[in-house]
Amino acid sequence: MKVVVGNEQEISRLIAEEFIKQVNAKPNSVLGLATGTSPLGVYANLVKANKEGRVTFKDVATFNLDEYIGLEGTHDQSYRYFMNVNLFDHIDIDKSRTHVLKGVGDYEAYAAQYDDEIASFGGIDLQILGIGSDGHIAFNEPGTSFDSLTHVAELAESTIVDNSRLFNNISEVPTKAVTMGLKSIMNARKIVLIATGKNKAKAIASLLKGVKTIDNPSTVLIDHPDCTIYVDEDAYSLVK
Ligand code: F6R
Repeated sequence: MKVVVGNEQEISRLIAEEFIKQVNAKPNSVLGLATGTSPLGVYANLVKANKEGRVTFKDVATFNLDEYIGLEGTHDQSYRYFMNVNLFDHIDIDKSRTHVLKGVGDYEAYAAQYDDEIASFGGIDLQILGIGSDGHIAFNEPGTSFDSLTHVAELAESTIVDNSRLFNNISEVPTKAVTMGLKSIMNARKIVLIATGKNKAKAIASLLKGVKTIDNPSTVLIDHPDCTIYVDEDAYSLVK
């Protein structure tokens, strides 16, 4: 794993440049995308670059990491909605090539074939990840098997608390999600993880210690051949 330390603006710009480089080198790239606060700066940079004509997404395909169970794609806290308003609606992507797990209806059946669907597109070329304060990546909470593929997961109490900031009330936060597994994520050819803020410092210090443990799911990344961890000073503050 490589580590890059910089302020939020810098690391967001650097990650966006990685995406631009990837798509310009391979216009039909398969991109793995995340939601949450962490990638927002990256997506803003991609929108800008697309509007400036530095990159086109017209032949790109995307796969998102996860979705809350119980929320329709039109719900303003669903991850499909998040992707539309923060990225897809502002770039020249073909929305039929954007994939987000389903949170309602036959969500289990869709989840069961998600890894095969990713493989049918040739696999993920570049995956962006955030990280939870408990070390989760996607919704793989502590205790998740390193061999997991896309599955239904229970959210940890700390994740429900962390994510309640985006809902009117903590009781509205879904308790389950569909998520790519740790093995699904490791199948990506290249991975970038972005972490900012003091509440990520413990998880980042444990990850950068370099010891794999299911108590911190992000430590699965230690074995990935091409993974870069982008952190701000706060997230890096407990690394000795
Ligand atoms: C979202 C996802 C989650 C978030 C994580 C951090 O698609 O996969 O693992 O990356 O919960 O969330 P933020 O960025 O809001 O701190």
